[in-house]
Amino acid sequence: MRTGQQIKTVAPKPTEIWRHHHILDIDDFSREEIEFVFQTTRAMKEVLSRPIKRVPALRGKTLITLFYEPSTRTRLSFELAAKNLGADAASLSAPASSVAKGESLVDTLSTLQALGADIVVMRHPQSGAPYIATKYMEASMVNAGDGWHAHPTQALLDIYTIQEHKGDLKGLKVVIVGDIMHSRVARSNIWGLTTMGAEVTLCCPPTLLPTGLGGQHRQLPQVSIEHDIERALDGADAVMALRLQLERQRSGLLPSTREYIQLYQLNQTRLARAKPDALVLHPGPVNEGVEIASAVAHGPQSVINEQVTNGVAVRMALLYILAGSPKQ
Ligand code: CP
Repeated sequence: MRTGQQIKTVAPKPTEIWRHHHILDIDDFSREEIEFVFQTTRAMKEVLSRPIKRVPALRGKTLITLFYEPSTRTRLSFELAAKNLGADAASLSAPASSVAKGESLVDTLSTLQALGADIVVMRHPQSGAPYIATKYMEASMVNAGDGWHAHPTQALLDIYTIQEHKGDLKGLKVVIVGDIMHSRVARSNIWGLTTMGAEVTLCCPPTLLPTGLGGQHRQLPQVSIEHDIERALDGADAVMALRLQLERQRSGLLPSTREYIQLYQLNQTRLARAKPDALVLHPGPVNEGVEIASAVAHGPQSVINEQVTNGVAVRMALLYILAGSPKQ
């Protein structure tokens, strides 16, 4: 990889801190690795502030996005990130590809490898699919969301956005409200936020709480659970609303959307229980009027658009770091 003198970064060399050839989740990221991503992101934001927002750091590299599910933000921001770094970017939407003719995931990945992919960014409805994919390709695999399991780059941009406003995350109260059970964003944020020292509170109906949160078979870091939204929001520094993932829910988990809105919508009255300078986040897509009131989504505390903007810089940082990381 070209080291890209055009990128003003004082970040340490990837090999000193970074251990990953793939980005599959952030459950195995250290605090130093996350800080390294953020330090590199700041350098990328400086690039994006220039009149010409491009550097040739990844010239000659090829990134392919492979999406088996719909996406707006993740796919576009990876493609923009790759182009901003001078890489070639191509995209494949599985429903419009030979997958529709029965081609398997393994054959599709072999094809992408044969076409010269250096980095594949994949979204897949099956939890764990990106892990299997790594066994069949040399290219770096970036998980752009797998089933209910993980969405690591989303969590990194969410945490980066909080850090930009609040500084050190240690001791901050971050509340995640919504359909936690079906949310890969929530799982990755729980890992990343707790690694950075935040105190995470989950708030949702009992039927939308994931398993594996407590006891001897705990699969997620220690979090607080509060089913009452007013109590959950008391003194919060940041609150993240999540969409009801109706496409993943089996029936019977909620009496009705109307009741959900009454009990769990993030509205102005409820937000007043948080600190006056609390941030409002949402990974998108937003269903305004359901999980979040329009006045809150577009209100002065909302950083939803900043999350999207930061997504490009965070993904530029990740691609830059991955391109310089040793193969394992
Ligand atoms: N947050 C997120 O993953 O959005 P998209 O589905 O639009 O990529």
